[in-house]
Amino acid sequence: MAIATISTINETRERLDAVRASGRSVGFVPTMGFLHDGHASLMRAARSQNDVVVASIFVNPLQFAANEDLSDYPRDLDRDTDLAERSGVDLLFVPSVEEMYPHGPVLTTVTVDDISSRFEGATRPTHFAGVATVVSKLFNISGPARAYFGEKDFQQLAVIRRMVSDLSIPIEVVGCPIVREADGLAMSSRNTYLSPEQRAAAPVLRRALDAGVAAIDNGEVRPAEVVRIMTTIVEAESHAQLDYAAAVDAATLVEPDTLSGEVRLLIAAQVGRPRLIDNAGTSIETTT
Ligand code: PAF
Repeated sequence: MAIATISTINETRERLDAVRASGRSVGFVPTMGFLHDGHASLMRAARSQNDVVVASIFVNPLQFAANEDLSDYPRDLDRDTDLAERSGVDLLFVPSVEEMYPHGPVLTTVTVDDISSRFEGATRPTHFAGVATVVSKLFNISGPARAYFGEKDFQQLAVIRRMVSDLSIPIEVVGCPIVREADGLAMSSRNTYLSPEQRAAAPVLRRALDAGVAAIDNGEVRPAEVVRIMTTIVEAESHAQLDYAAAVDAATLVEPDTLSGEVRLLIAAQVGRPRLIDNAGTSIETTT
């Protein structure tokens, strides 16, 4: 079936109502476009688990602060449509800002306290309310059985999972593994902002994570020591300014006194224009 591109909420609802009425399941992949292989992996996962796959492309103004890159966020709808079609998407929802926010500034927002305030939320205080609000709207428009998010934005995934749980939204949230370039850099639409020198430096985030994971796998359980190891590696790279490095409980994103169970290492650094984020997981067996 050829991909259909739709720009209105009403037509998207009508088409997906018909899908659900015939007993078929909808899988949903929300994106901001300028798609890469990471997005393609979410679309392929949705394709393999649902009867119909819908993806959205919407650069959501609500999740950008005034000093961020909303106006020049990269866009290429023709290339995105081609990638989405090749990755098994049936319906591409591409609304305008007016279609999504017809009254201008919204009076209703969804905020997920606590988990939104740390790490990315400390640097970007309004970001996760913008994400949670638009994702709620997109869920209400598409009514999927399952929705697919990349683990690259690990805190975003945690925020969405908590929102879905707190609000009893009947959608299964599926987290998909990070897709990386050959040298380890996590794929991101914003990698396009990197100069050649910055691009060469950017895999330092992955190297720092690898060193942190290796330390834990070798028995280190002190979060501060893991953070020190990661920090030292990033600080040795002149093109990168570390924002944060952390070793947290993978479910709560809280830094414990002693690491145990499922651990996630989180890292963010400014590398030239873009702020890059990345993460890696490991687990510590607890003996009883
Ligand atoms: O991860 C993204 O691309 C965005 O935050 C999302 C989930 C599409 C909401 O705008």
